[in-house]
Amino acid sequence: MRIFFISFYTLVFSLVVNAQRKTIDQRVDSVLRLMTLEEKVGQMNQYNGPWAATGPLTNDDNLLTQIKEGKVGSMLNVTGVARTRELQNLAMQTRLKIPLLFGQDIIHGYRTTFPIPLAEAASWDLEAIERSARIAAIEASAAGVHWTFAPMVDIARDPRWGRVMEGAGEDPYLGSLIAKARVKGFQGKGLGNTDAVMACAKHFAAYGAAVGGRDYNSVDMSFRQLHEVYLPPFKAALDAGAATFMNSFNDLNGIPATANKYLQRDILKGEWKFKGFVVSDWGSVGEMINHGYAKDNKDASMLATNAGSDMDMESRSNIQNLAQLVKEGKVKLSLVDDAVRRILHKKFEMGLFDDPYRFCNETREKEQWNNQPHLDAEKDMARKSIVLLKNAPLPGQEKQLLPLKKADGQSKIALIGPLVRSIKEHLGFWSYDWPDDSTRITSLWDEVQKKMGDNKLLYAKGCNIDDNSKAGFDEATSIAKDADIIIISVGEGRDMTGEAKSKSNIHLPGVQEELIEAITATAKPVVVLISAGRPLIFNWTADNVPAILYTWWLGTKGAEAIADVLFGDYNPSGKLPMSFPGTEGQIPIYYNYYNTGRPATSDSDRFYRSAYIDFSIYPKFAFGYGLSYTNFNYSNITLNGASLKGNQKLTASIVVSNTGKYDGAEVVQLYIRDMVGSVVRPVKELKGFQKIILKAGESKTVSFTITTEDLKFYNNDLKYDWESGEFEIMIGTSSKDVKTAKLTWNK
Ligand code: NOJ
Repeated sequence: MRIFFISFYTLVFSLVVNAQRKTIDQRVDSVLRLMTLEEKVGQMNQYNGPWAATGPLTNDDNLLTQIKEGKVGSMLNVTGVARTRELQNLAMQTRLKIPLLFGQDIIHGYRTTFPIPLAEAASWDLEAIERSARIAAIEASAAGVHWTFAPMVDIARDPRWGRVMEGAGEDPYLGSLIAKARVKGFQGKGLGNTDAVMACAKHFAAYGAAVGGRDYNSVDMSFRQLHEVYLPPFKAALDAGAATFMNSFNDLNGIPATANKYLQRDILKGEWKFKGFVVSDWGSVGEMINHGYAKDNKDASMLATNAGSDMDMESRSNIQNLAQLVKEGKVKLSLVDDAVRRILHKKFEMGLFDDPYRFCNETREKEQWNNQPHLDAEKDMARKSIVLLKNAPLPGQEKQLLPLKKADGQSKIALIGPLVRSIKEHLGFWSYDWPDDSTRITSLWDEVQKKMGDNKLLYAKGCNIDDNSKAGFDEATSIAKDADIIIISVGEGRDMTGEAKSKSNIHLPGVQEELIEAITATAKPVVVLISAGRPLIFNWTADNVPAILYTWWLGTKGAEAIADVLFGDYNPSGKLPMSFPGTEGQIPIYYNYYNTGRPATSDSDRFYRSAYIDFSIYPKFAFGYGLSYTNFNYSNITLNGASLKGNQKLTASIVVSNTGKYDGAEVVQLYIRDMVGSVVRPVKELKGFQKIILKAGESKTVSFTITTEDLKFYNNDLKYDWESGEFEIMIGTSSKDVKTAKLTWNK
């Protein structure tokens, strides 16, 4: 009976959805029928607004006139109720009054800046990540924004690439779950609600594999790797309902993604049945001339449109050529109609045809300024994103250095480093500046002072983030000598990791590591805080300093979050979503590599092995690694069977015990290895995780259910299936620290 009700309601629900869809489809068609070819092409054209830019600008004096003439379907970088209203007014003067879509890079918050996406990924907390995207959408939509160019779901195995900060790191499984959480967060209860913005899964595809980590560079990879590693987060975003996709700057195996038919028509719109539209990246249609793929803008527009790119961001190739291309028979009208239909559909779904100003509400916009619940959520997310990399006891003591004691009336703390008093650096790349930033954002200095009450704090800058002067070292060391504990705050400037911020040297910039050495030489206990957008290299610090927190760029409440962790008001639980290399020469570096025919089993196993003769093969800090103020002990794994058949399910359980003195959260990670395959399989692949909270002294049994779905991979014919054989199940605290059990599983 229950089954009957469920299927009855499912049927009714799908009829209603279909009816709504049909209504929108009919409405789209009724508009499309009225449109001239030029008006259709106008919908496939997106311009940057006259106030801000996130790419190279094309001078265009008559931008506003073009909107009035129906030559523009969407604008980017236009925010705020006043501005969006102003431009929407122009669109309402066009013949058919088709509303504009306003898009913006809302990457990690709008008014409330959240941690950079890579930092959020370190929380492994999908609910918190979804909430962060939800809040970003609420704030942005209140400022007239309809569409965010996020989430970036590119897998990134190369920290030289500045855009690693925008994604979820190196792993397709974690990346897929985070992609889904972000899409759900941005789109909330669904398009049509005024607090939902359209998500845009980008950059389709494989942009994260740009050769040498150089932005905008080429990508050459096997189709198997594309499908197995780089596409899953896009598929997850699509399954979560992502309204739009953005193609990318790179070529993939010689074909620019923007004109890549295989990606856009065969996979995305074909096999995956994507119903939304694809926007190009900034100028990427026209840039195909530089790629040597299109001879001119006209050719570029033809290649992009034929390949399934629906909207041209800023290159003006479509607006200047597409109508003519249709007239010459070089682009089929049906393809233009399909692109316009997709775009109009989203405008209808957003409710813009019913009320083009429905996102323009001054009262709602004002409510989002310094909204306390949003700021609280930001602080929560920031605390969850911090990763404790090291926490050793002081010489001769049992107790670890962190957490620090609060106002004890005795300890003198010295805060040293170029980031101690910084305000805006907390916001990171892809964030917005607000007039009241200097009062609403506090520095580490402010927050440590609050924790320490009347205790005296000492300060020295020591050096700048990125120059060679050591002129401040003497002052810093003399202050250090006067203190009982030293907190050194170093890292990157907020504009050092992001778009077009690739680096060949990812060591801690400038003389910051030398400053750490100089301070550590005073023999005083040192805690190092590293704020950055990417995995940096800081080997001396890692080997010699007792306590290190990786604090990324944490957003508006970043300093409060750091102070909470430093003083034990929050026990850190973040785990690295990317492997941290020990030298640039190890890059690309990732945990799910193939074993090779001559694997090295350790760093002393180098004789004719797949190893380096001059450096370790291991990352400095592994994927999934991160400590807590407490300790977690893992039992051996128990399986419900050592030999499974067909579609049986495997249960793998482990007992995790908190053996330390603090309550804490732990991300229990499940990895699987397929021992022999028709194509070689990675040494381990993340297939599950659970974030659990354990009180001091508490134990919990954590169980994972594994199905044959988790064993599937793409074989050499790109068939997605699993193969009989032996498997290793690994459960542990990081990719490098796991317990193992074996089983066979046959069809
Ligand atoms: C170029 C970036 O690659 C893309 O991610 C971004 O959305 C656009 N510029 C718009 O700013």
